[in-house]
Amino acid sequence: MPSDSPLLRIRDLSTHYGPIQALDKVSLEVDQGELVAMVGANGAGKTTLLHTLSGVLAPSGGEIMFDGRQITRLASHQIVGSGICHVPEGRQVFPPLSVDDNLRLGAFAVRRDKAWVESELASIYELFPILKERSRQTAGTLSGGQQQMLAIGRALLGRPRLLLLDEPSMGLAPLLVEEIFRVVQGLNEKGVTILLVEQNARAALGIANRGYVLETGRIVLSASSSALLADEAVRKAYLGY
Ligand SMILES: Nc1ncnc2c1ncn2[C@@H]1O[C@H](COP(=O)(O)OP(=O)(O)OP(=O)(O)O)[C@@H](O)[C@H]1O
Ligand SMILES: [Mg+2]
Repeated sequence: MPSDSPLLRIRDLSTHYGPIQALDKVSLEVDQGELVAMVGANGAGKTTLLHTLSGVLAPSGGEIMFDGRQITRLASHQIVGSGICHVPEGRQVFPPLSVDDNLRLGAFAVRRDKAWVESELASIYELFPILKERSRQTAGTLSGGQQQMLAIGRALLGRPRLLLLDEPSMGLAPLLVEEIFRVVQGLNEKGVTILLVEQNARAALGIANRGYVLETGRIVLSASSSALLADEAVRKAYLGY
C-alpha cells in the first residue's frame, strides 16, 4: 500500500445507543508516528469513539480503515490482533494483584511463550522504572499516576501499532497529570503512534501534533495543536481564558 496513506482513517463514523446518536459522521486520520489529540467535554462522545474503534460498540454507519484494511465490523479480539490497543477510561488495573502479575496477565492475553513474555516485561520495566521498583506491590497500593503507567505498560506489551488512550489524566493531581503527559509524549518520541482522547485540552494539545475538537458527537474543528491552542473559541470553551 502507498506509504502516504494514513495508518488510521475513519470516515463518517456514526454510533448509536438505541435511539440516542452519540457519534455523528466522525471523520479523522492518524498518520504513522503521529500523536493526535481528540478533545471534548464530558459526554462529547470520546469514549464512544474509542469503543467503536476497538470493536466494543458496533457503528451504525461509516467505515474504519487501518493500515489500508477495512476493520469496521471486526470483533474486538481481531482488532487487537491487527495492532490497535486501547487503554480504557479509569485505568482498570487489578488492585489485589501485584504490578508484575498485572503485566503478565496483559502479556498472556497476547502470547504465551515464556521467553517472549520475559523480554517484553523487561522492556516495560525499562520504560517505567517506578513499576520495576514496585513490581511486587499490589496494584491497589500504587498512586493514580502509577496505576495509569501500569495500564499503559500493559497495553504496550503487545507492541501495538496504534495506542488508544482514554483520558489518562482523569482524576489525577496536577503534578501527576504533567508526569503522565510526559510519559505519553516520550512514548510517541520512541515511535508509538497514539490517539489520545481528553477533556484536558490544554495538556493534550500541549503534547499532540494535531487535534480534533468533538462536540456532541461531531467534529467541529481540526487543526495543528498550536492553531487550536490559539483559537479563540477553543480558548473560551476549553482553556478557560
Ligand atoms: N451505555 C450508554 N447508553 C446510552 N447512552 C450512552 C451510553 N454511554 C454513553 N452514552 C451517551 O453518549 C454520549 C457520549 O458519551 P461518552 O461516554 O462517549 O462521552 P465522553 O466524551 O467519553 O465523556 P467523558 O469525558 O465524561 O468520559 C453521552 O451523551 C452519553 O450520555
Ligand atoms: Mg469518556
